Order: sequence, then C-alpha cells, then structure tokens
Amino acid sequence: MIDLKDVVYCRLGTRDLAGAEWFATNVLGLEVAERRRGTIYFKSDDRAQTLCYFEGDPEDQATAFELGRKADLDQVAATLEDLGHEVHVGTTDECDMRMVRAFISFRDPTGNRIEFVVGPEMTGTRYHGNRDAGITGFSHVGLCTTNAERDEAFWTQVCNARVSDRIGDAPLLRLGTIHHSLALFPFKKAGIQHINHQVASTDDIQRAFNFVRDNQIDVTFGPGAHPTSSAHFLYFTGPDGMTYEYSTGVCEIHDEPLWRDRQFHAEPRGFCHWGAKPNIAAFS
Ligand SMILES: [Fe+2]
Repeated sequence: MIDLKDVVYCRLGTRDLAGAEWFATNVLGLEVAERRRGTIYFKSDDRAQTLCYFEGDPEDQATAFELGRKADLDQVAATLEDLGHEVHVGTTDECDMRMVRAFISFRDPTGNRIEFVVGPEMTGTRYHGNRDAGITGFSHVGLCTTNAERDEAFWTQVCNARVSDRIGDAPLLRLGTIHHSLALFPFKKAGIQHINHQVASTDDIQRAFNFVRDNQIDVTFGPGAHPTSSAHFLYFTGPDGMTYEYSTGVCEIHDEPLWRDRQFHAEPRGFCHWGAKPNIAAFS
C-alpha cells in the first residue's frame, strides 16, 4: 500500500501570471515565496511553497502528496506501473522546480495529474500574507472524478487514504487525523475542483465574505457550515475559474478503529447546515 502523509502543493498553469499573482496575494492573502522565469511560488504556512502558478495552459494542473517516511519511491513507481499508470520520474531540474528532493508523476484513474513527492522543502521563516486573511495553512484539495467508486478504490486500496464521510457518491478522504485532505467530486472531466486554505476563525470567514464581495470576486458558496467536517466555510472563484475555499474548525478523527464513514445527501443540506446553497458545478 502506498503510504501518503499529506497534500503538499498544487501547480496551476495560467495565461495571465500577473493576474494570478494579484489574486493570490491581494485577495487570497498568500505570500510570494519566490519568483523564477514564468513561475511564481506562494507560501501559506511553514512550507517553502504550497501553490505555484506558471505560464501555461490552465488545464495543466498537478496536485502533490508527500509520501510517508517508509515509502520507497522506486517501489511506489513499480506499484503504479503494474496497475497500468504511466510513471514519470522527476529530473533534477524538475525536482528543483518543485522544491522537493524527489518525485514521481502519473495520472490518477480519472486523468488528474498527481505527483508523489519526497522531502518537500520547509523554511525557517513564518508565512505572512499581504492581507490579513487569517490563513493558517494549505489544507486540502478537491479533485474531479469521472467514476467515484473506481477512484475511491484507487485512493483507499492502492494508497492509504480512509473515507471519513461521503456526500452522495463523493468521498471525503483523510491521510492523517484531519477529517479530509482530499475529496473526490463526480464531474464530467478531470481537474482540480477546489483548493482549500484553513483560516483561524469564523471571524476570518465572515470578514473574507465581505472582502471578496467588495472586490467583485464571485462568491460561489457560503458563508456556511459543513455537516461532515463541522468546518465553517466560504468558496469563491479565482483565476481561470478555479474555486478557492477558506474554512475553519475542520474536525480531526482520532478514534481511527471506531470511526465509521457517514452518508450525507448529495444536495445543499449535505454540504451546508446553515442553509447556504452552492453555485458550483461539481456540488450540484
Ligand atoms: Fe473543501
């Protein structure tokens, strides 16, 4: 079984790098960690980078997961190849571009570009955003799935993810104790469905709601409260139509052997028990 520890970063292509930087710093509240030709790295916690925009096709997206301590990259690559996945081993330059010691890249069964990395760089410097968004860190990613049952089997049987809850067919998957680090939402094609950053409190969610609305940013869901993870949330639209989420108060699961995944409805009340309704394609 492939031992995954956490989600580490997303890489997103964009035709408008300057626009993406404006959004990431002035709206989302991230910090520019580093600039290289055609690429900007953003920091949201102690890690060297947790989001990267690069000049390219907006459909060119990747999500990275850190392998657990015991995982052997060669063995992981062999496991994936045996299952029919085409695996690319990151070159020295590609590792440098990702600020990791080593990585492999492949597509999940839906076709999402996934990177399994070893040794993502940490920094000794604290994150401080351009605006006081209250961000405490990059926390989870929603991926589109064209077959939720098949992809859930990949993440839970080939990898070590566990189902915390389901909304309709969409599994919310944990890698550690946090309720979910990855969620799979049925959709017609591959892609990153949303990118989540945690904020410190519900005050930050409410402040963000007014702030993004006042800046003509499209609020697509919330403020609301997830009945699954108990988190309070706000979803809004970023560059190239990407959905970003702030949330706070996500629960942790410590009673691992006792926890049983719960089934929630694939309708607004399954996503929010405050009555907010999503205007997000993969949530409808
Ligand atoms: Fe989320």
